[in-house]
Amino acid sequence: MTAERIDASAAGEWRLGDRVVRRMGFGSMRLTVRADRERAVEVLRRAVELGVDHIDTAAFYFSPGGILDGQPGTVRYATDLIREALGPYRREVLIATKVGPDPHPDGGWGEAVTAAQLRRQVEENLSRLGVEALDLVNLRIVRPIGPEETAERFGALAEMRAEGLIRHLGLSNVGVEHVDAAQRVAPVVCVQNAHAVDLRRHDALLRECGERGIAFVPFFTIAGPAREAGAGLGTDGAEWRIAAARGVTGHQVRLAWTLQQGEHVLVIPGTGDVAHLEENVAAGALRLTEDELAEVDQRR
Ligand SMILES: NC(=O)c1ccc[n+]([C@@H]2O[C@H](COP(=O)([O-])OP(=O)(O)OC[C@H]3O[C@@H](n4cnc5c(N)ncnc54)[C@H](OP(=O)(O)O)[C@@H]3O)[C@@H](O)[C@H]2O)c1
Repeated sequence: MTAERIDASAAGEWRLGDRVVRRMGFGSMRLTVRADRERAVEVLRRAVELGVDHIDTAAFYFSPGGILDGQPGTVRYATDLIREALGPYRREVLIATKVGPDPHPDGGWGEAVTAAQLRRQVEENLSRLGVEALDLVNLRIVRPIGPEETAERFGALAEMRAEGLIRHLGLSNVGVEHVDAAQRVAPVVCVQNAHAVDLRRHDALLRECGERGIAFVPFFTIAGPAREAGAGLGTDGAEWRIAAARGVTGHQVRLAWTLQQGEHVLVIPGTGDVAHLEENVAAGALRLTEDELAEVDQRR
């Protein structure tokens, strides 16, 4: 099942604030580590050609240590690739970015916690993407924080939204208590957390987001717990048995199962490979039966 005749519209749409996006999006993080520059640009352009209009990124998505395809090279930023591939941007493409994590030159991670630090990160995203306003900014939490700190940081972003630097706000790597705190400050259009058929610790939050009309945007949909463990992708489990019977791939079943968790669930599979991209987009047209959904569900 490939995307020859299937485009991103097959997955349906969801409203993010005043914008409507297709539920089949694209995650740009992996463009900085595996793909060569030309291929990364090609993947991004092909995604938009296939109707993908929700692209996830961050200014801190860059090739760690300047290593590209296993070879030392110059540092490559996902945001720069997006600007090169898609600028000047078409109005219908929504680029979601995130602030919070603050990579150190030694490879460790800090965290932007003050209003001034968050503003510098927003400004970096504006200049790298080459836009006057960011469509969507997720506040990505790194270390555990309580409601007051959440409200402070989200409030700093809400001020930049009021200034016109940001259009919509979301949260990432959070629990329901962070969503509560942020919603008291400003509208939350999406929550981006790790979630997959075999990565289910945010099941309840996924449902809660649906009840509140907030988009739930899972990452690691394909990679699952392997990504957190730094391992390769598995090809076992119910999704692969179903895939063999349906003539699709297990990755497509994982994406279809995720999309069927709720109309408010938007996927952002990441790839540096055009054929994988086409396969992922085509998964938007795959509908699992109740029995197949239940079989995959047993992975939890
Ligand atoms: N908010 C956060 O904290 C956070 C954290 C992580 C990621 N994210 C976002 O979420 C996006 C998705 O996360 P992710 O890229 O780590 O995980 P993912 O989308 O679940 O999986 C990506 C992995 O699957 C492979 N893949 C993708 N499509 C495939 C296909 N059709 N067949 C075979 N392999 C396939 C990719 O390799 P190939 O390149 O070889 O296809 C890559 O190894 C990221 O790009 C990023 O935008 C957000």
